[in-house]
Amino acid sequence: MPAASGGEPRFRLVMEEKKKIYIQTFGCQMNVHDSDQIAAMMLDAGYGPTEDPRQADLIVINTCSIREKAAEKVYSQLGRFAALKEEKPSLVIAVGGCLAQQWGAKFFRRSQVLDIVFGTHNIHKLPEMVRTASLRRVQVTETAFRKSVPSLALKAVPAPGKISAFVTIMQGCNNFCSYCIVPYVRGREESRPHRDILDEVGMMAENGVREVTLLGQNVNSYGLGTNGSGYRFPDLLRDMGKIDGIKRIRFTTSHPKDLSDDLIRCFGEIETLCNHIHLPVQSGSDRILARMNRGYTAADYLDKVGRLRAVRPDISVTSDVIVGFPGETDEDFRATIALMNKIRFDNLFSFKYSEREGTAAAGFGDKVPRGIRSERLSVLQALQEEHTQERNRELEGKVLDVLVEGPSKTGKDDLTGRTCGNKIVNFRQRETAIGETVPVFIKKAYLHSLRGELTGAASPGFIARRAEAQ
Ligand code: 5AD
Ligand code: SF4
Repeated sequence: MPAASGGEPRFRLVMEEKKKIYIQTFGCQMNVHDSDQIAAMMLDAGYGPTEDPRQADLIVINTCSIREKAAEKVYSQLGRFAALKEEKPSLVIAVGGCLAQQWGAKFFRRSQVLDIVFGTHNIHKLPEMVRTASLRRVQVTETAFRKSVPSLALKAVPAPGKISAFVTIMQGCNNFCSYCIVPYVRGREESRPHRDILDEVGMMAENGVREVTLLGQNVNSYGLGTNGSGYRFPDLLRDMGKIDGIKRIRFTTSHPKDLSDDLIRCFGEIETLCNHIHLPVQSGSDRILARMNRGYTAADYLDKVGRLRAVRPDISVTSDVIVGFPGETDEDFRATIALMNKIRFDNLFSFKYSEREGTAAAGFGDKVPRGIRSERLSVLQALQEEHTQERNRELEGKVLDVLVEGPSKTGKDDLTGRTCGNKIVNFRQRETAIGETVPVFIKKAYLHSLRGELTGAASPGFIARRAEAQ
């Protein structure tokens, strides 16, 4: 620092540069949300964020183990980061999330450069673990399950300008679908106290958040067993609907077996509850659904979607399907296609069955050859493209409320946002502010988005909300 003119400075101000953290996130929205919490905690511990791993003093990989591919990506990324550690030996590398939970200290055998392994119930311990690893240069592991997950109590303060936020309302899963690793790596279901959730969302609304997505492995079982108060998911939605400033409420994921009549009623009652539901069906064959331990039949599923559509005719329904589950015959696969043709999902996430060590299905003998899994996936995806196009085309000529998210990639004067049904809409801007809900006339439907035009003619929902706001 240059000396002040006219003599020596009496003291020197040493500006210590903040250390840098680089976080890479794999997997679901739950992991994205956990990574936000990690970033906030590490900021308090003196680590500022960086987008460049080469600048980092601490690298955190938040891992996913839902399918083999997700796990492989983590291992290859670790390999790449190993080279950075050679150049900078003080670099600390940590892995967290589901794969870390599954592997525990065995992870150190996979990678020589790893310093920290922390599990899904131990996020809150990361600052302390980083301190130990960097001061003592030892490997540290924390993967014990806790009865109560401490990070569920951490409130995420939204970044300035953020209009959409995730809120974890429960974590873990008690369902043990036979293909799924989640109950083993996230532990048993635990619901957050509803007061905490409502306070957090109230705080978010005061900070400008307009849209919240409530997160949990199975939000429909929120409140079951754990808090004993009889306060369930529909109660939470109704209270959420009363929070000033929150214009849109979404949630994910719902298990069809737990989709109650009361929850269906919420779609008819709560104006801010978005007309979208992600309801993973997994298969259209009753035989396969039973082997998957899903607890419903294809007819039950069709019935529930029918009742949702009776309450909200324009509801957008999306789903997950697994093809090539052990024992899936051509006939079973045709049953899935038949169900898709009956429902006509707005969108579908489809996966080839991937064997996960430790799950019940890993022990099933009648594996479907990989080639057949790939063939079935292509057939299913081609059909879904037709359905998505068709569902999107039904929106042409309508005026939809769009929550403006920011500049669009489609052109320098374009903005992008989402409809309540979760469709992306791009349109030419006219002094529209980010975070505003505007009526947009839908001119053209594409596979992944809609093209629209701002209009003065607001839809009835928009007028109602405007009237409420005044
Ligand atoms: N193989 C393939 N897909 C899986 N999923 C979960 N476990 C597996 C597995 N072992 C899919 C399900 C679930 C979604 C998040 O991932 O469809 O709904
Ligand atoms: Fe996995 Fe089934 Fe739980 Fe979903 S409900 S997380 S698929 S075990």
